[in-house]
Amino acid sequence: MCAQAASLDTSRYPHRHLLGISGLTAEEITFLLDISDSYVDINRRDRKKLDLLEGRTVINLFFESSTRTRTSFELAAKRLGADVINMSVSTSSIKKGETLIDTAMTLNAMHPDVLVVRHSDSGAVSLLSEKVNCAVINGGDGSHEHPTQALLDALTIRRRLGKIAGLTVAICGDILHSRVARSNIHLLTALGARVRLIAPPTLMPGKIERLGVEAFTDMREGLKGVDIVMMLRLQTERMQGSYVPSIREYFRFFGLDREKMSVANPDALVMHPGPMNRGVEIDSELADDISRSLIRDQVEMGVAVRMACLDLLTRSLRGAFEAEGADAGGEVGG
Ligand code: NCD
Repeated sequence: MCAQAASLDTSRYPHRHLLGISGLTAEEITFLLDISDSYVDINRRDRKKLDLLEGRTVINLFFESSTRTRTSFELAAKRLGADVINMSVSTSSIKKGETLIDTAMTLNAMHPDVLVVRHSDSGAVSLLSEKVNCAVINGGDGSHEHPTQALLDALTIRRRLGKIAGLTVAICGDILHSRVARSNIHLLTALGARVRLIAPPTLMPGKIERLGVEAFTDMREGLKGVDIVMMLRLQTERMQGSYVPSIREYFRFFGLDREKMSVANPDALVMHPGPMNRGVEIDSELADDISRSLIRDQVEMGVAVRMACLDLLTRSLRGAFEAEGADAGGEVGG
């Protein structure tokens, strides 16, 4: 299963960037997962540091707040020996478009090798990637995509259950505003899982079945017989107005607890990308139940996935992608 970190066939991922899961083939996704897998053991060693990115510069450019994603990318880059700069940019008082492009051009002039970018606008990371010479990784753009989250979720599932194909995965909660949901829908369907979405009608995107998923507005219906339950946070920062009557009502109908889990497959596992709102979308005790919850594994897998992405994209930069015209990883837009 493991691709060797030392010798990667970069032609198996013929993209300069990682902007989204949409547009990647099942083979490309599996290749990324295989490389990530080879990094898990390295991260469990006492001495974790490699020199693959020595002399390279990774800039984490975050226009939106983040704890685990930014830390995970920072740790991944440092474990590969890169120099890392973290930039948190507030967009509150400045025109967003201007800030983005100006900042990109300024950073580009400093010759970074990889820019990891998070932005509140869908499509902003793709736009930025067109203006710079380095590889760009999407650390989450608006409600559009969060590719490394979907990869780490898939790696977590694959290592626990040995496969993705044939599983039934329910993604529950604020689907409407969730880039995690979108990237996971693309990845899981590409690798042959059945995906169900469960949300109140106000938080379910219209015509979502077009993405090859089934939509439910009732937890007990949607959770019947599923293998994995992925819970999502209510993304109030992206909401204008009120989408749920009250937090108490929301938990009653859409919060995951043991009673609702009882209709799932008896061995069903629980996931959450974090940050978790205990008592809102998930019962605290269930989230901490190590026989059921994969939440801690997800955080661990995150570092391995980000090491794999940084490794692969910087190798690609060295080779064919110094040539003009290499395309971007993943379709972005819409
Ligand atoms: C997610 C995100 O930022 O999209 N979190 C994360 O990356 N760990 C989900 C969320 O914020 O709820």
